[in-house]
Amino acid sequence: MPVITYANHKGGVGKTNGVEGMAAGLAMRGRRVLVVDLDPQGNLSRRMGYQEHELESRPTIAEAVREHTPEALQTTFLPCQWEPDWAENITLVPSRIELEERVSEAGVPLSWQRLHRCLAPIAGQFDDVLIDTPPTIGHLLHLALVASDYVIGATVPTYDSVRGIYRLQTFVDDPDQRQGLGLRCRMIGVLIGMKRTNVSTHDQRTQELLDMFGDLVWQPHLPLRAAVEEASERAEPPQSAGIETRQIFEARVDSYLKAIG
Ligand SMILES: Nc1ncnc2c1ncn2[C@@H]1O[C@H](COP(=O)(O)OP(=O)(O)OP(=O)(O)O)[C@@H](O)[C@H]1O
Ligand SMILES: [Mg+2]
Repeated sequence: MPVITYANHKGGVGKTNGVEGMAAGLAMRGRRVLVVDLDPQGNLSRRMGYQEHELESRPTIAEAVREHTPEALQTTFLPCQWEPDWAENITLVPSRIELEERVSEAGVPLSWQRLHRCLAPIAGQFDDVLIDTPPTIGHLLHLALVASDYVIGATVPTYDSVRGIYRLQTFVDDPDQRQGLGLRCRMIGVLIGMKRTNVSTHDQRTQELLDMFGDLVWQPHLPLRAAVEEASERAEPPQSAGIETRQIFEARVDSYLKAIG
């Protein structure tokens, strides 16, 4: 059961969008997908159909990590609310702002293993686990990385976002971090999104990413499209934006399946 973290130290760069589209694409191919919203913003949970107030009186990822047992994780499971074609193979672990409370546990010995302890015993229940993370390189990202086999960086072709990806990779590859946290994950993909035509710096930053990451940069890039943003506002998968977006996510699913062998 491959576990994949989507991350970037920069915010608003398409991490959640990438998780949504990959989940929908994998589910359409008949794979059973668990998506974990590990962001206190709860954007993924909202886009899969759950408003913040609807999650107030039920367990979320915050309680699962606090208890760090597979049973606690399973009590959080919710069906994705998209149209059945996209949604029927997707299970959501939702998030609320209470997840911020877990950050204060960062100093507790081995607390960074708590998501891994929830997920490892349920290996086999799903074909893929996708974790959406906040734009930090702190405790919440550590929880995700410790639980993960693979990391996918999501970025827009701007200076600050490229730096965010660079810092992410530096962290993931740092021997001290790998040993201290017990990381085993490696980067398998860099997703470029919201790319604009006629912006010369977008072309420059895209070239920089290709120079830095080579084949890890998956093709083709997702252009900036109003329909993609509108799909997320309507709590629909990005694929509902149209054929172009659907084909790009098909290519991403192919790249992912190839990368995990
Ligand atoms: N290709 C695109 N074209 C237009 N809008 C997009 C595209 N990709 C993502 N968006 C929109 O950009 C916004 C930011 O995307 P998203 O929420 O996926 O970023 P994020 O990295 O998860 O942000 P955060 O760091 O806050 O979690 C969202 O409103 C999303 O719908
Ligand atoms: Mg997000």
